[in-house]
Amino acid sequence: MIGDNSKFRALYQREKIKIEERLNNALMYREPVSLYNPAAYILKSGGKRLRPILVLFATKATGGKFSQAYNAAVAVEMLHNFTLVHDDIMDNADKRRGRLTLHKKYDLSTAILAGDSLLSVAYEYLIKDSEDHFKEILDSFTHGLVEVCEGQSMDKEFELLNEVSLEDYLLMIGKKTAAMAEMCCIIGANIAGASKQTIKAMAAYGRNIGIAFQIQDDLLDISGNETQFGKFVGGDLVEGKKTYLFLKAFERASGKDKKKLLRIITEKGIKRFEIPKFKELYSNLGVLEDAKEEILRYSNKALSELKYLNKEKDKDLFYWLTDSLIKRNR
Ligand code: IPE
Ligand code: IPE
Ligand code: MG
Ligand code: MG
Ligand code: MG
Repeated sequence: MIGDNSKFRALYQREKIKIEERLNNALMYREPVSLYNPAAYILKSGGKRLRPILVLFATKATGGKFSQAYNAAVAVEMLHNFTLVHDDIMDNADKRRGRLTLHKKYDLSTAILAGDSLLSVAYEYLIKDSEDHFKEILDSFTHGLVEVCEGQSMDKEFELLNEVSLEDYLLMIGKKTAAMAEMCCIIGANIAGASKQTIKAMAAYGRNIGIAFQIQDDLLDISGNETQFGKFVGGDLVEGKKTYLFLKAFERASGKDKKKLLRIITEKGIKRFEIPKFKELYSNLGVLEDAKEEILRYSNKALSELKYLNKEKDKDLFYWLTDSLIKRNR
């Protein structure tokens, strides 16, 4: 298995480089530069490129070839980067992928429009790979986008609510994050011309891995290493976000601890210098462990969908990807 793992890792790296070449070229000669330079700033800032990889792997695992899906892969990464730029404005974030966020590097209007342009150009790329199953692919992409907006709206709404259940939270992250992972898998499987049952299984894989992914993002936001994570650690506490950790801690705490946590709601977040104190509280309440368990639970749910794939090597590819996501530190 160790040999296989290095094979999959190398494949990921190779495909990531191909995607990055395309992303680098995508906006190169476009004008006005006042629009496309800022858009290129975020597009070229690195990142795991998970969503395009999901498209490529889903295409391949359901009977297609990587070469059929590169434009769609570029499209989903552009869509993702659009959501990041607008998310950073909404979340008041200064740092992304180890660099200044777009609205901090430039200004607010530039960032809003650069985000919009990434979304528009994403459609141009998607259409190039949608000769077959055009309607299904466009439908899925558009639906993913609609869900992200709904999820992001819920996320902001929750900041102001005193009571948010874990069920509400799961619905919200299902939309803001998992919908796009699901979309990537559906698009890949459609490009490959997969059967309805296979598309459904890939969709469920994407949905569950997306949920695990967001819970892990919440976990890294408090326990991550800032240099590796590339974002400001503790940002969710400062912004008063209803993360998995917060909701679980609030459910479990009593007395003085509960009062402390209540401050995150009533004062709409805490001061930066208080982050270590709250991290310790989360740790004492055992919610970091809860999050890890939940990540595993949803990852296993995702893996259970892979039985619908025909070839063992395709299953192994997704097993490896899932495992590497669980172990990620950024
Ligand atoms: C960040 O996504 C936004 C979330 C849904 C948590 P990623 O963690 O995939 O960010 P990059 O693309 O690798 O930077
Ligand atoms: C992800 O949620 C939302 C998106 C759709 C981009 P977060 O707000 O937690 O993402 P990060 O942590 O800023 O990347
Ligand atoms: Mg956000
Ligand atoms: Mg954010
Ligand atoms: Mg986050």
